[in-house]
Amino acid sequence: MKNPKIIIAIDGYSSTGKSSFAKLIAKELGYVHLDSGALYRAITLHALRKGLIDYRNRIDEDSLMDSLSTLKISLRPEVYLGDENVETEIRQMDVSNSVSPISAIPFVRAFVDNILRECGKDGGIVMDGRDIGTNVFPNAELKIFMTASPDERATRRYKEMVASGKHVSFEEVLKNLSERDYIDSHRSVSPLRQADDAIVLDNTTMTMEDQMVWLKGILRDQFGMDV
Ligand code: DC
Repeated sequence: MKNPKIIIAIDGYSSTGKSSFAKLIAKELGYVHLDSGALYRAITLHALRKGLIDYRNRIDEDSLMDSLSTLKISLRPEVYLGDENVETEIRQMDVSNSVSPISAIPFVRAFVDNILRECGKDGGIVMDGRDIGTNVFPNAELKIFMTASPDERATRRYKEMVASGKHVSFEEVLKNLSERDYIDSHRSVSPLRQADDAIVLDNTTMTMEDQMVWLKGILRDQFGMDV
């Protein structure tokens, strides 16, 4: 029997491993994985390059709105601005420091929502972000809300950055995470919150394998999947 092509929405705090887990699930099920944060990051990179964000993170919203109308942004599944693959640039600290204010702007969210809904309309997709189960796909068949302790999340992010040769301090990473958690959870449009029908996954002490075992149990029990 063929497994159904459902929508799996994964939301949660920064650095809980949402994208890594989503990628693995997509591979296991033969689904497409889409990292919605990459779109917000690409728009932030675009705004930084155009000089539309000042050193205090104040944004020239009128110019940003104008420039979005001609911006060619795509997920293939890596993120592109025009023909340029910007997957590496969007993970740098300058983008991380400005992405939350950019993603709090209502017209930016509407722009991204359109792209995401188009990508997911046929199902068979695992999408991760902050508002996938609450706003982008409120009817997603499976919603997972991921969390882990702030210290554990900062440690994971710090190790990742150091391994890729970046010079950051643990304190800087922890501060960036706490600030993003705060802005993401308190913005007026589609704030980060757990959907009422989401299943919580606290992975503070879990490995990726533990998480997969947990998920497969749900896919078998609730969706009759052969996994
Ligand atoms: O998942 P990430 O850390 O790459 O996301 C970057 C930022 O984008 C995050 O701080 C909040 C924002 N975001 C959002 O507001 N809604 C989403 N669906 C995904 C990300």
